[in-house]
Amino acid sequence: MRLQTLTPENPLGLDDPSLFIQCAIVNGAHVASETTFAVDNPATGEQIGTCPDLGIDEARGAIDAAHAAFQSFKHTPALERQAHLLKLHALLLTHADDLARLIVWENGKAWGDAVAEVAYAASYVLWFAGEAVRQNGEVLPPSGVNRNFVLRAPVGVCALLLPWNFPIGMIARKVAPVLATGCTAVVKVPAETPYTNLAFVELVHRAGVPPGVVNVVTTHAHLVAVGAELTTNPKIAKVSFTGSTRVGKILAAQAASTLKKLSLELGGNAPLIVFADAHLPTAVAGTLASKFRGSGQTCVCANRIYVHDDVYEQFSAALAAEVAKFVPGAGFEDGVTHGPLIHKAAADKVMQHLADAVAHGARVVAGGKRLSDTLIQPTVLVDVEPDCLLSTEETFGPLAALIRFSTEEEVVALANRSEVGLAGYFFSCDADRIWRVAEALEVGMVGANTGAISNAMVPFGGVKESGYGKEGGRDGTDEYVVKKLVVVGSALG
Ligand code: SIN
Repeated sequence: MRLQTLTPENPLGLDDPSLFIQCAIVNGAHVASETTFAVDNPATGEQIGTCPDLGIDEARGAIDAAHAAFQSFKHTPALERQAHLLKLHALLLTHADDLARLIVWENGKAWGDAVAEVAYAASYVLWFAGEAVRQNGEVLPPSGVNRNFVLRAPVGVCALLLPWNFPIGMIARKVAPVLATGCTAVVKVPAETPYTNLAFVELVHRAGVPPGVVNVVTTHAHLVAVGAELTTNPKIAKVSFTGSTRVGKILAAQAASTLKKLSLELGGNAPLIVFADAHLPTAVAGTLASKFRGSGQTCVCANRIYVHDDVYEQFSAALAAEVAKFVPGAGFEDGVTHGPLIHKAAADKVMQHLADAVAHGARVVAGGKRLSDTLIQPTVLVDVEPDCLLSTEETFGPLAALIRFSTEEEVVALANRSEVGLAGYFFSCDADRIWRVAEALEVGMVGANTGAISNAMVPFGGVKESGYGKEGGRDGTDEYVVKKLVVVGSALG
């Protein structure tokens, strides 16, 4: 059932109403405040709840709690940390429907997307449960009488600054390696989607993780000041941020003052190339998967779609036919495949990109209408000029813009003509071309003949102004440890 009956005691229709937490969480306790901010349902604009609008003092309190907890949590045996993660994984699956409900209420994504995101989040927790017991150091060759060892030590208190587009995926991807390595955290949750994050941290505590290990700060009016505190406080050892390149640069500059360890997962503007030798049904399916997941609000969404002249008409007709089948609407409604955008400003930007492309000669062949402040029909544009606005700015919405090209050399140059480099995709049946183009694209992640690259077992991250650091995969815990050299000489000289 999508929702239980809505009542004053259970306004979001959850199976377990206690997962709807309208407080921050510090040292395991719920923290309220006199000033609050409203959280709205993107589908209707109606308020669904409030959260405390915390400032610097409360952020410092959360940092102190995480710092105190670190002194003991860093000594927790690996098997115990693994057990916490396995329990958390089980709890995420048990409460999957409620977590999906919270996502739809506050993020707006369609039910199917929300359910998939909970499974995605759980897979990171399971992966890092495995990594918790693989934090092995190294034994190096001796140098004379000295024996050389490298220990992997938890880095310390981590500030985790989260985006709204994956309300449970991103917290899982950052908190799970924190727990696996014996670090502690202060999580700054987005003002748009705090409730799924808070429910996740409630489940972290139900899984047996001690108070103070994971703390949550909710803020809206004091966002800039709290962000500055989290990136400059000397008790914070590491900052991990997912969001825009603009904000990432500000946070990096702030974190430089105390030389914190930093990972940044920033903007994408991904190219997607359909070569003339592509298997077109695969290319269409891959484009749908990459472009329209979460209504186009992912950092790895294809933003610039380059299609070879020889297959342009065939590909665009096939893509438009599939996109026309999508059903935009409120995320809980039966049959809805694509939910609204997060807020009106996000939809304004998509419409601006659409209008700019049309002004430069593009034509709409599917969708194209704005249905409400936040809801836009999934749209396909053809005859898009390579130089229009959406080539340089991430659209972050359900707009597939098809640009023509005629040679591999030309299209690789166009694809690389970007300051950012997170993901890139292409479709081809030529084995030589697959390796050549995979190597030539200036991105951190390449999808060849697929539009779905993200999973817990692989390193997620970009190059250029898409940031640095990897999340997930075997590298995923490296971001949360320091490698410490220990050289042991002979005690007797
Ligand atoms: C993101 O958009 O930041 C994450 C996308 C993903 O995990 O696939």
